[in-house]
Amino acid sequence: MVRTLGRSDAAHDILEELPEWFGIDRFTHEYVDAAARFPNYVAVATEDPGVDGGAIPADDVLGVLLLDQRYPTSAEVHLLAVRRKHHRAGIGRSLMARVEEDLRAQGVRLLSVKTLGPSAYDPGFDQTRAFYRACGFHPVEEFPDLWADDPCLLMVKAL
Ligand SMILES: CC(C)(COP(=O)(O)OP(=O)(O)OC[C@H]1O[C@@H](n2cnc3c(N)ncnc32)[C@H](O)[C@@H]1OP(=O)(O)O)[C@@H](O)C(=O)NCCC(=O)NCCS
Repeated sequence: MVRTLGRSDAAHDILEELPEWFGIDRFTHEYVDAAARFPNYVAVATEDPGVDGGAIPADDVLGVLLLDQRYPTSAEVHLLAVRRKHHRAGIGRSLMARVEEDLRAQGVRLLSVKTLGPSAYDPGFDQTRAFYRACGFHPVEEFPDLWADDPCLLMVKAL
């Protein structure tokens, strides 16, 4: 079940579970701050549909996606993370599907994500890029200097 939240304190817990991807404290704090600013989509394991916009205990949240929309026709996945023991169970795909449905309904045409580029050796992010490709994203360009220490790959998907 994917719901939207007005606010979430779930992101911090999930990021702490995934140090290979979010090991730098500075970024974790940035993401937790972002959770207060951006629309939150959360995957919850519950039979109770609840209501969008309500509060959910952090323990019930299995995955979180933060959406950054700067322009009327495009949006960016700012953060996506699924609890480790639930990887590869379709949660990431479900979060993405719900976000895409909402964006299409608003007339948004392009969804992007920035992730670690392939020129940095990192088996975890090989899997991340495989996930985005499976969701229909295409690599556009790797930017060596956009981020301080790591190459940034821009991936996009037409909605
Ligand atoms: C990347 C992530 C969000 C994917 O979520 P998920 O719920 O595990 O992924 P799904 O089960 O929905 O996978 C959908 C498809 O993506 C692909 N995929 C997912 N994980 C993969 C992996 N480890 N290796 C290869 N392909 C993978 C598969 O094609 C999969 O479909 P299939 O299982 O039917 O073959 C999750 O693994 C995660 O939190 N990773 C760590 C954090 C991260 O990388 N966040 C993104 C940073 S930019």
